[in-house]
Amino acid sequence: MTQLTTHGKTPVRPFSFGTMQFGGKADEAASQALFETCLDAGITHFDTAYIYNGGASEEILGRLAKDRDDLYIATKVGYVGSCNKADMLAQFDICRSRLQRDSVDLLYLHHFDPTADMRPIVDMLATVQSRGMIRHIGLSNLAAWQVMKAQAIEAEFGTRIDVLQPMYNLVKRQAEVELLPMCADQGIAACTYSPLGGGLLTGKYAKGGSGRLTEDDRYATRYSLPVMSHAARRLTELAAEAGVHPATLAVAWVAASPFRPQPILSARSVEQVQPSLDAMSYTLTPDLYSKIAALMPAPAPATDRNDDL
Ligand SMILES: NC(=O)c1ccc[n+]([C@@H]2O[C@H](COP(=O)([O-])OP(=O)(O)OC[C@H]3O[C@@H](n4cnc5c(N)ncnc54)[C@H](OP(=O)(O)O)[C@@H]3O)[C@@H](O)[C@H]2O)c1
Repeated sequence: MTQLTTHGKTPVRPFSFGTMQFGGKADEAASQALFETCLDAGITHFDTAYIYNGGASEEILGRLAKDRDDLYIATKVGYVGSCNKADMLAQFDICRSRLQRDSVDLLYLHHFDPTADMRPIVDMLATVQSRGMIRHIGLSNLAAWQVMKAQAIEAEFGTRIDVLQPMYNLVKRQAEVELLPMCADQGIAACTYSPLGGGLLTGKYAKGGSGRLTEDDRYATRYSLPVMSHAARRLTELAAEAGVHPATLAVAWVAASPFRPQPILSARSVEQVQPSLDAMSYTLTPDLYSKIAALMPAPAPATDRNDDL
């Protein structure tokens, strides 16, 4: 991969914590313990969404982060419901109410319906920013051409896309082709989700363990390829040789990418999150980075001309 530098101010921290389990697999007490463990580890950026656990994630985060202005809070709208400006504004009002905040640091469009008109969506994000309700604008789960289209429309509104939230991990590397180079070129921060492949890269499934991949059909499908399970098993072996947890290597590998993505960590318990937090201070050697990268075929370049590399 080419070493690229990100120009422009990066509005987010190198690591953040995603609260998708708050109010779901993590009850209020487990969520509080996770929140405090993350704070102790130096994490100040917390990610949630309107859709997570019917609003319980935002509500719990709102209670935990109440009256704290030292935190960077991100949420998302537009995963469900229509993408017209009024509906998205109404969703965001509910987010702010659950989070007990007049404003949040970062608001993402959670998902783009390609049949929708992009202009009202971009208009909504620019509007709430101009009203001081958000500091930064984000997009999640969009193709690169869609981000650039949104960026052009944002420019008409006098603003810009600050953050992209794509999926990225050892066995899901599509973002390397267009999204991460685009972010580097455009000065867009890349806060990437699922650094552990939803738990696959912890190595627990090879040992007959259970979790999201055995409980949620969408994740079972997403991580169903045998090559992915094989890479997870080999990662576990490399981790044993290095004397660390596979999750530590998986997260450290994402963070060590030349594109400098900023992984969003997550877990359902303090015990689970510790190996991911350990990655924040783990130095991955270039040799081990390359060995891990070689566990999965790199995606073809956008031109599909592998012979030019
Ligand atoms: N924008 C989007 O569309 C989108 C999508 C997904 C996530 N996100 C955000 O990104 C955050 C992180 O994504 P993610 O939850 O998919 O991250 P991940 O790190 O790939 O997966 C986390 C899951 O892995 C399992 N796990 C973690 N540590 C473990 C350990 N030590 N041992 C065994 N299992 C372990 C747990 O699931 P089980 O216990 O159930 O196995 C945990 O919930 C989310 O919280 C959310 O904020 C955004």
